[in-house]
Amino acid sequence: MKNQVKKVVLAAAVVSAATVLTGCGEEETVGIDPKNHTDALFAVMKADRTNYTKLIIQRLGPNGADAILPKEEWKDLDNGAPLPAQMFRAGAEAVRDITDTFTYSLQSSWPINSQNAPKTPMEKEGLEYIVANPGENFYGTEKLGDTSYFTAVYPDVAVAAACVSCHNDHKDSPKDDFKLGDVMGGVVIRVPL
Ligand code: HEC
Repeated sequence: MKNQVKKVVLAAAVVSAATVLTGCGEEETVGIDPKNHTDALFAVMKADRTNYTKLIIQRLGPNGADAILPKEEWKDLDNGAPLPAQMFRAGAEAVRDITDTFTYSLQSSWPINSQNAPKTPMEKEGLEYIVANPGENFYGTEKLGDTSYFTAVYPDVAVAAACVSCHNDHKDSPKDDFKLGDVMGGVVIRVPL
């Protein structure tokens, strides 16, 4: 019976909880490990963020092609397109309208947009951890109000020269000495337990 339960759990790979029948015919709720859950969510987010940057934004170049101009003030332009971080936020806001089973955001201890600063002690700790330990993720649990959450923080790395120059030169950036390869911030994923 155990094997059967396992199979059902595997089939539910990205679903955080699944209800299965046990041998006695009773219902039991089983779920995947929250770490595997947030790791899988992050893989999708990272792939989408990288693809948008590489397949769309980089191909348009800093001045944009004739048709589309990637620019922070994209909403004010007929041919404007959001920057990767703005696209990421749009995704997070759209997900918030669809489900309350998890939330996510792109944050930094040195944010251009103050909305992207860490808000809870665990977000702050996680961002500091991934900067101090490059290549590692941060996982923890925190209680906000009456709910306990599993909170994961994944590094967001300066993979292109444009990441560094745009942030260092931006008038609202509190930090102007980012280097290529630096952890510039992190993706925070929060799942209610
Ligand atoms: C053309 C300018 C530009 C480029 C290139 C750019 N960013 Fe940003 N980035 C921004 C702006 C503007 C924001 C704030 C977006 C918002 O309003 O949420 C931002 C937000 C962020 C944040 C959230 C914290 C903050 O600063 O508000 C992180 C982390 C981040 N960017 C990392 C990167 C990385 C890594 C790259 C390269 C892969 C990159 N950025 C490329 C302009 C840029």
